[in-house]
Amino acid sequence: MVTQTALAASGSPAATGNDALYLMPPEGLLRAAERVGTPALIYDIDGVGHTLRRMREDLAAVPGVALNVALKSCHTLAVLRRMTQLGVGCDVASVGELDLARRAGFREITATGPAFSADDFQRMRSAGVVVDVDSASQLALYGAHFPGTDVGLRVRVPLPAPLESAATFGRDSRFGVAPTDPRTAELVARHGLRVTRLHTHTGQMTPESLLFKTAYLLLVAEHHRDVHTVDFGGGFFHLYENRPKLLLALRRMATMVTDWRRRTGRNIQLRFEPGGAVLAPYGYLVTEVRAVEDRHPVFGQRVVTVDCSAWNLAPWHRPQALPLYASDAPAEPVLIAGNTLYENDFFGLSVDGGRHPMRLPPPRVGDRVVLTAAGAYTMTNSRRFNRIEPPSEYLFDDGSLTAVTPAS
Ligand SMILES: Cc1ncc(COP(=O)(O)O)c(C=O)c1O
Repeated sequence: MVTQTALAASGSPAATGNDALYLMPPEGLLRAAERVGTPALIYDIDGVGHTLRRMREDLAAVPGVALNVALKSCHTLAVLRRMTQLGVGCDVASVGELDLARRAGFREITATGPAFSADDFQRMRSAGVVVDVDSASQLALYGAHFPGTDVGLRVRVPLPAPLESAATFGRDSRFGVAPTDPRTAELVARHGLRVTRLHTHTGQMTPESLLFKTAYLLLVAEHHRDVHTVDFGGGFFHLYENRPKLLLALRRMATMVTDWRRRTGRNIQLRFEPGGAVLAPYGYLVTEVRAVEDRHPVFGQRVVTVDCSAWNLAPWHRPQALPLYASDAPAEPVLIAGNTLYENDFFGLSVDGGRHPMRLPPPRVGDRVVLTAAGAYTMTNSRRFNRIEPPSEYLFDDGSLTAVTPAS
């Protein structure tokens, strides 16, 4: 049985204390993980609520801010329904996500994607959603079908080089129109459109890039006189790396917004739409060990193969491994492999081939291991390589475990 102390020692990103952004998994969840059929994905709903409340408290420093969740990170209806009860809206990337968002009961829905059809635009409009179009070509299609209506623009933000990293997408983003592109103004004028929203997502944000984006997007909003909402996107893992620094940046952002409102005499609403940083820490993938090679002939270390697949479920994830078995032996470096015949099916393997280190006391076949950080982009990214079934999903809510299906 894993205690919370052992979990802290394992290097879990979760912290304790009232002011913490993230919570440790409740003892009851870990006890439930010892009994549930594997593989299982358990969502800690109280944890999601805690982190959402913390983030909203922090962001409330800025006037007009509200939080939407990026639906691309989670399609599990029962989780989404709990999130609507917590008072957040959502952002969708397709009409499939739009339908899911409406079933979940989200009141505010925003939308951006690179390749909507005229029919998709119509369905968004019928649902009262103003689409944030991604390119001049999409703007032309939208304008030709819906002249004289409101539209949003997904804007590419030219982040200065010092604010770029391997995790950001600014100037080099595949997505978005450049506000300086003359085609944007020409298409807006030709079709009599009203640009009411600006939307961006630049990968992982930092407090510095948030301030740059604020200055840039407020300038663009000053030019487009009908803009009433600016959406800053997600990417909260890096934004929250240094919370005191973020809180200072939010105070500075508040001043920028207040000055803008005073100077222009216009109101402006602001939105953030994180996915991973709200949900990922609260998904626990419960697995059973199927094979152990103590000294693998190729890797020269212990390789533990579990009953689900990183390739099918966790291609980008950086989990910690938590043993659900008693052992007096110290934790040692381990490679945790998935159960497909894909050579690179390892947990913690990043897209650029880097390996996120994991440690476990030596397990035996049949022992259980929990892999953390599985609450976002797990089921929404899942594939069925080798025709292997996805895990069963469960909510751990208010002290008890409930089975859910993706559609319930
Ligand atoms: C438009 C948009 N908004 C929000 C997000 C959520 O990003 P994250 O999960 O990193 O917070 C994404 C992720 O790809 C996105 O494309």
